[in-house]
Amino acid sequence: MENLVSASLLAADFSRLGEEMKRVEASGADWLHFDVMDGSFVPNISFGEPVLASVKGLLSLPIDVHLMINEPIRYVEHYARLGASLITVHYESTDEPGNVLKKIRSLGCKAGITVKPATDVEVIKPLIDLVDLILIMTVEPGFGGQAVIEQTLDKIRKARAFADASGRRIYVQADGGINGKTAGRVASLGADVLVSGSYLFGAENMAENVKVLKNAR
Ligand code: DX5
Ligand code: ZN
Repeated sequence: MENLVSASLLAADFSRLGEEMKRVEASGADWLHFDVMDGSFVPNISFGEPVLASVKGLLSLPIDVHLMINEPIRYVEHYARLGASLITVHYESTDEPGNVLKKIRSLGCKAGITVKPATDVEVIKPLIDLVDLILIMTVEPGFGGQAVIEQTLDKIRKARAFADASGRRIYVQADGGINGKTAGRVASLGADVLVSGSYLFGAENMAENVKVLKNAR
């Protein structure tokens, strides 16, 4: 089966958001990845609710929200109302990950959990019944355009094992530094959703690069 591709908005040209979203839609990408950063959980501030409201009207693809914010329980309802299909939260950002995941599902969204590079992926195991997606950060969250951290790769294999053992369809997503060179490695370790920002938005022909990611093995 082909990998799913989630195009990361962070790398878009925001002065031409309308055209950029048309480009994503025409590229064959499956989802739009929406990175919310609060300047506290991660050392950078990106964008939030008003931008999601605008973007939602510009394309019809499912929106995959990645919350890199403290106290995500205070915000998940806003993102669900604005039309997110899937909301992923960081294990490290909350002392009640189970409740946040339950809340996301109760709002009609799919729920994802993620860990920073230094966090052991084993922490996800007790939460497995509450998740539809496990996101493995292959870079330190906060910025686009970084290179994959080699030591994070084995977590993809472990996440795939947890997902398969659950008996349900749980996506394993890789995020950070994914391009034509690295996609094959993360896919062969078990990632089935590849997030990519600079490799897609920096492309002359986005559709061509989406195809490379979809077929990476
Ligand atoms: C990083 C974000 C990523 C980022 C990926 O904190 O979570 O989604 O946009 O960008 P690239 O593909 O350029 O590494
Ligand atoms: Zn992300």
